[in-house]
Amino acid sequence: MSKEKFEFDVLVIGSGAAGLTLALKAADKARVAVLSKSKLSDGSTSWAQGGIAAVQHDKDTLESHIEDTMVAGAGLCHRDAVSYIVERGPKAINWLVEQGVEFTRRENNGKGRDTFMEREFHLTQEGGHSHRRILHSADATGKEIQMSLEEQARAHPNITLFENHVAVDLVSDKNPDPSLRKCIGAYILDTDRGLVDVFQAKTTVLATGGASRVYLYTSNPDGSTGDGIALAWRFGCRVANMEFNQFHPTCLYHSEARTFLLTEALRGEGAYLRLSNGERFMPRFDERAELAPRDIVARAIDHEMKRLGEACVYLDITHKDPEFVKGHFPTIYERCLKLGYDMTQQPIPVVPAAHYTCGGVMTDLHGRTDVTNLYAIGEVTHTGLHGANRMASNSLLECVVMANAAAEDILAKIESIDETVAIKPWDESRVTDSDEEVVVSHNWNELRHFMWDYVGIVRTTRRLERAQRRIDMLAAEIREYYSFFRVTPDLLELRNLVTVANLIIRSALQRTESRGLHYTLDYPDPDPDLEGVDTILKPPRRPVLR
Ligand code: FUM
Repeated sequence: MSKEKFEFDVLVIGSGAAGLTLALKAADKARVAVLSKSKLSDGSTSWAQGGIAAVQHDKDTLESHIEDTMVAGAGLCHRDAVSYIVERGPKAINWLVEQGVEFTRRENNGKGRDTFMEREFHLTQEGGHSHRRILHSADATGKEIQMSLEEQARAHPNITLFENHVAVDLVSDKNPDPSLRKCIGAYILDTDRGLVDVFQAKTTVLATGGASRVYLYTSNPDGSTGDGIALAWRFGCRVANMEFNQFHPTCLYHSEARTFLLTEALRGEGAYLRLSNGERFMPRFDERAELAPRDIVARAIDHEMKRLGEACVYLDITHKDPEFVKGHFPTIYERCLKLGYDMTQQPIPVVPAAHYTCGGVMTDLHGRTDVTNLYAIGEVTHTGLHGANRMASNSLLECVVMANAAAEDILAKIESIDETVAIKPWDESRVTDSDEEVVVSHNWNELRHFMWDYVGIVRTTRRLERAQRRIDMLAAEIREYYSFFRVTPDLLELRNLVTVANLIIRSALQRTESRGLHYTLDYPDPDPDLEGVDTILKPPRRPVLR
């Protein structure tokens, strides 16, 4: 077997809602490759339960959606980004429906399609939203979106899909002036063949999702290892607001299903949070009770669990009509039942878990990064939409709107991009197969444990400094290991996780206040001087290149 060289107009790394939307939008005029680390549908999009937020009826307004997002973002949302994305929400929904996405409709509690004029979707509510504006497909919205977009992408003659392909590094044209360097593609490991191929492309798009796997407990799939953030950072792009890691308040507490989410829409439809003695505790923490933004709910749960020494709290929807619960939350109902819990009859044990990376690669409102011809879209980015705390169901919206914006920008210039520099084949003449894989597995576990213990829901400067010392050591070990041994998927992911963990810890140490999702006992209040101030990290040199 020999290494391959592929050439495309657009290389999309990542195959969730953002990546597939961009591919579909660009493919009418460009040849597009979409890469996925494992199966196309293994990313976070498929796991999204709640839905996608967009204004849909005349009792709601764009201004209200914008204001709710700004309030949840706790002083760090960029109003221009929030307006841009929210205003394009209704159009994004129309486009998804055109792609075959079936949102639950009002009349029948079930799925079905309708014409635009006749449709009336069931809208649910989630924390921070002052109106019902979450479109959903029962409790498996992400899966419905993923499957519809995948079907379209598989049928498109200009889209080539590559499963089991992991990005190693981006490649530049090596312009002697670093500020003029351009991205011309990437080295990609084909995990089936064990070879690193060249993907040369006029434009490259990072759509790799978030980094919640940096934490021991997460609602995310295995692939959420911050790959795009690490790739962009090594390539010379700035990242912002990495200290804002969202912990979802309610993941199932069960040894066999620790990553299973119990959607916030359950609370939107009236579920209560209770302690083991039955007490409903959220009203003690916030007047919005169970519908307070996620940071408040997650912190309240963490506080009560620590105060009482309890391993979990309980989500209780037993006071609602069982038929309503089964109709609206069929996936969750079935999964819980299989694990021995009938949610219509008994409260379900829940704990918080890492859920969403609010910071990321800095982009403008065209999805452009700091490096020419390199774009980023979706959870991998920092556009300014989420601020210090993402409001539920704004992320799928951001994926679709920003993918569209980036596709338009790419198509407007694709003809004028010349490809004069050819990428050299991957050189592995100085590495061998590893004889100590244990270093990789050990460091994976160590990293995720200390990130959970020291950089979690409640932080202190001392814990962050402890984490910083450990991450420095791990980073040095991984750099050395990487220079000796052939790349494997686990090694590449670990290398990225270490980079991202480092960015999270450094950002958290820089923010000497508590704001949104970043809560530290040493600075328990927001500092008014830091309102509107993002934590921007600049790579030491730009770009790091082969
Ligand atoms: O609770 C949920 O269904 C999650 C929604 C989201 O993270 O946007």
